[in-house]
Amino acid sequence: MRVETERLSAQLETLAGFSDAPAPAVTRVVYTETDLKARAYLKTLIAEVGLSVREDALGNLFARWKGADATLPAVATGSHIDAIPFSGRYDGTVGVLGGLEAIRTLKASGFVPQRSLELIVFTAEEPTRFGVGCFGSRALAGTLTPGALAELRGDDGLNVLEAAQGAGFSGDAADVALLAGHYHAFAELHIEQGPRLEDVGVPIGVVSAVAAPATLHVTLTGAGGHTGAVLMRERRDALAAGAELALAVEAAALETGAPDSVATVGVFDVHPRAVNSISSRVFLTIDVRDIDLGRRDGMVARIRNDLEVIAAKRQLEAEVVVVNADPPATCAPDVTATIRAAAETEGLDARTLVSRAYHDTLFMARICPVGMIFIPSRDGVSHRSDEYSSPEEIAQGVRVLARTLATLAS
Ligand code: GLV
Ligand code: MN
Ligand code: MN
Repeated sequence: MRVETERLSAQLETLAGFSDAPAPAVTRVVYTETDLKARAYLKTLIAEVGLSVREDALGNLFARWKGADATLPAVATGSHIDAIPFSGRYDGTVGVLGGLEAIRTLKASGFVPQRSLELIVFTAEEPTRFGVGCFGSRALAGTLTPGALAELRGDDGLNVLEAAQGAGFSGDAADVALLAGHYHAFAELHIEQGPRLEDVGVPIGVVSAVAAPATLHVTLTGAGGHTGAVLMRERRDALAAGAELALAVEAAALETGAPDSVATVGVFDVHPRAVNSISSRVFLTIDVRDIDLGRRDGMVARIRNDLEVIAAKRQLEAEVVVVNADPPATCAPDVTATIRAAAETEGLDARTLVSRAYHDTLFMARICPVGMIFIPSRDGVSHRSDEYSSPEEIAQGVRVLARTLATLAS
């Protein structure tokens, strides 16, 4: 199993160059010029490996190596290439370029797959533009209908379908969903995005489950006015209420007592945002996650309750939109056992762990058995420009992925 580590590092570096943020940061938002240029680069690499390419109406890309029996359900791997603002170069891209390298390595070794092998480049795993993560894989798994996609709008007013068309993707959104049985199995390679593998000095993580994410959008409307003229007793300051809510979000996660409970306000927009103007309106995004669905839902309920109390006390109007509230996904024992055996054959230690980040695997789990391979992240850092995994760590992940795919496709 000969992985071309230097070539893969060079490809990751080139891909990172398609960015709307200055290096080393990467910003690559779905359907922008930058995203389209990155996709074009990727297609030249896929062509070099000799895979046939299909794209659906959302731009999900499927690159296939036909198996000896092309009538059998295929084995798939893949991840995403979109990158949140000012993030790093490894999130998602390691699973895409590493997946391609795994297929290239298998081809070079003379391996002949019985089942077709497919690399999937999912559109928009990140929620940056349309508010919801994984709309590509959600739609692929049939959980987001064309009608629901048309409801998702970005700041420019375009909905997902309009933006996809504008980016040059054609075809019918109704054809994006793939039936259960379309794939035999799916395995995603990804950076850990946490410190656990590094802490124990183990190169391979075998994911047992992916935590349950929920996203709320909250708008609080009060009354604006002159900061000198409106007395404190008369105020309905939306920013002050939003600040209280942000602290309540933090408390909701801390107070479960479980280390797996996390809750975050990531966006806090203020209107009209002037030094001598009381804020009349704020918009917050709230991201709540836990590996335990009941606990996750408990946090969401508590946050909603606190919001009502804060709004009533301060005489504000509160509007809440639950953008998504997904259950966790469990990885298939057969696939995780295959990953474990692949690591052992490669002489690499492996540790079982849960994924606290979400991935396209969360939705692929709805249509086929899934597994995930993690590699270490330096200092556990991700969604930051100093995200890093070494070329050797990436190559080890690719070797385990290649063996896993070979077993699943045999
Ligand atoms: C994926 O980027 C996530 O937010 O977990
Ligand atoms: Mn990410
Ligand atoms: Mn990712």
